[in-house]
Amino acid sequence: MNAFRQEALDVLSRHTGMEPSEIDAVLSRPHKPELGDFAFPCFQLAKELKKAPPQIAEELAEKVAGELELLTEARALGPYLNLFVNRQEFARSVLHAPSALAEDIGKSSEGEGRVIAIDFSSPNIAKPFHVGHLRSTIIGSTLYRIFASLGYECVGINHLGDWGTQFGKQIVALKHWGEEKDLEDLDALNDLYVRYHEEEQKEPGLADEARDWFRRQEQGDAEAIALWEKIRETSLDYFKMIYERLSVRFDHYTGESFFNDKMDAVVDRADSLGLTSVSEGALVIDLEEHGIDTPALLRKTDGATLYMTRDLAAACHRHESYKFEKLLYVVGTAQSLHFRQLFKVLELMGEPWAGDCMHVNFGLVQGMSSRKGNVIYLEELLDEAKRRAQEYMSANVDKRPELEDEEAVAEAVGIAAIFFSDLGKQRIKDYNFSWERAISFEGDTGPYLMNAHARIAGIIRKCGIELDPDADVTLLEEQSAHDLVSLISRYTDALREAAKTCEPSILAAYLLDLARALHSGYKELRVKGEEKKIAAARLLLLAVVKNVLASGMKILGIKPLEKM
Ligand code: ARG
Repeated sequence: MNAFRQEALDVLSRHTGMEPSEIDAVLSRPHKPELGDFAFPCFQLAKELKKAPPQIAEELAEKVAGELELLTEARALGPYLNLFVNRQEFARSVLHAPSALAEDIGKSSEGEGRVIAIDFSSPNIAKPFHVGHLRSTIIGSTLYRIFASLGYECVGINHLGDWGTQFGKQIVALKHWGEEKDLEDLDALNDLYVRYHEEEQKEPGLADEARDWFRRQEQGDAEAIALWEKIRETSLDYFKMIYERLSVRFDHYTGESFFNDKMDAVVDRADSLGLTSVSEGALVIDLEEHGIDTPALLRKTDGATLYMTRDLAAACHRHESYKFEKLLYVVGTAQSLHFRQLFKVLELMGEPWAGDCMHVNFGLVQGMSSRKGNVIYLEELLDEAKRRAQEYMSANVDKRPELEDEEAVAEAVGIAAIFFSDLGKQRIKDYNFSWERAISFEGDTGPYLMNAHARIAGIIRKCGIELDPDADVTLLEEQSAHDLVSLISRYTDALREAAKTCEPSILAAYLLDLARALHSGYKELRVKGEEKKIAAARLLLLAVVKNVLASGMKILGIKPLEKM
């Protein structure tokens, strides 16, 4: 769209005296695609010139009419001046672009040399995944791919919760009620952890024991460390198996324990800056003057460090190691206070990059937990997704193709259902998960996108002609063809907007729009049996749509399949 939009900006700038950048900020799209490609609102000028907006639109239409090249028409529509692109030229520029059929469609290089560090997933060792960890995994990995597609260098960090007082509790539980082999069994470890909390109600002395074990661990006691290492390994093996299944990767597994030897330095620095004080025996940073009522806790009465202490050390370490332009923490809204405190303390410590840290928060999910509480058993969840996908497809999709890999398709559909039900909504919204809604091939779902993609693949396979990348696309005259070309041209903008707001739902909504436009265009854009040149032009259009769908779906963590 670039050269076309640029012409609109230039011509409007000449006749309004506004800067092209000002125009860029207000130039939108008409609410119906047949009403043009750009809409320039005349309200602001109306105020300045003390004239009615429709009159300004009329006058502008007349003035710019003679100066259009890539644009063909300027039409006043109420308070707007609508501009139309030359559709033939436009189709050529979009569908004959070098990347139109290539894997790098939509990619750009604006992020080159700029680092975005993303802290995501970050589950707690020896505890099961929480639904929040799943959301973080989905949103975080998607943001990673969105930024990467814009050329940024991304650093994916799993800040495992692998240090802290809970290990004292875990060890106490093991000692009292567990056996050696439980160390290798995540379910057994979880049960022990739950049991600890039940027993602690009856036997408060256990809490002292647990504190003592964690203190030993922090001091490097051999037995405590050996037990902790085993527990960590058992959890990590499980998490890695799940990540593999979700195709999620991290550049670093630097969990909380990694900062064990890096905390003293930050605490000392905060001390020497005079930021700390002692409150009820604990070392804290009071933030009341800065509008945060709860102080940040750095050390407990017994000297033990906390989540906050480790996050402070982690932020400093990350800045030193990765020189990030932005550090994103993809964590639920429930931790807002923690991150406000963290960022404020970094600022008070004089870190000039404190403002580059951002809490990418998200809301709660209901209806996904499989057993008790908010806990989800990911493996069960993924198995259920697969089973339900298989069921749905055999019940609802007629004329299913012969598939060699039925299982793999069901697995991909199941994962698409889970990912999209999360990414399809603004992240800060709470939502209710429903299997029926998530799996359906109709409506706003991941499987709907997969279906659109596979359907084009089917057309390409069965249309009887070869794909010609040089097909004469100026023959595409239908409104539905123009709508699709226009959507294709906006793919990179959707990625940019999603990155700017850290909002994958923008990309999800864009892909749904594309799939819907396709859905309403199929009839008009038949390939099979049409006149040769028309068929070739339509086939190329569909192939490029398919390419955008595939690219965008992969970014959302959804597998584009050829058959399903
Ligand atoms: N492990 C934490 C939890 O489960 C999330 C960690 C998020 N990242 C961070 N740097 N604090 O609540």
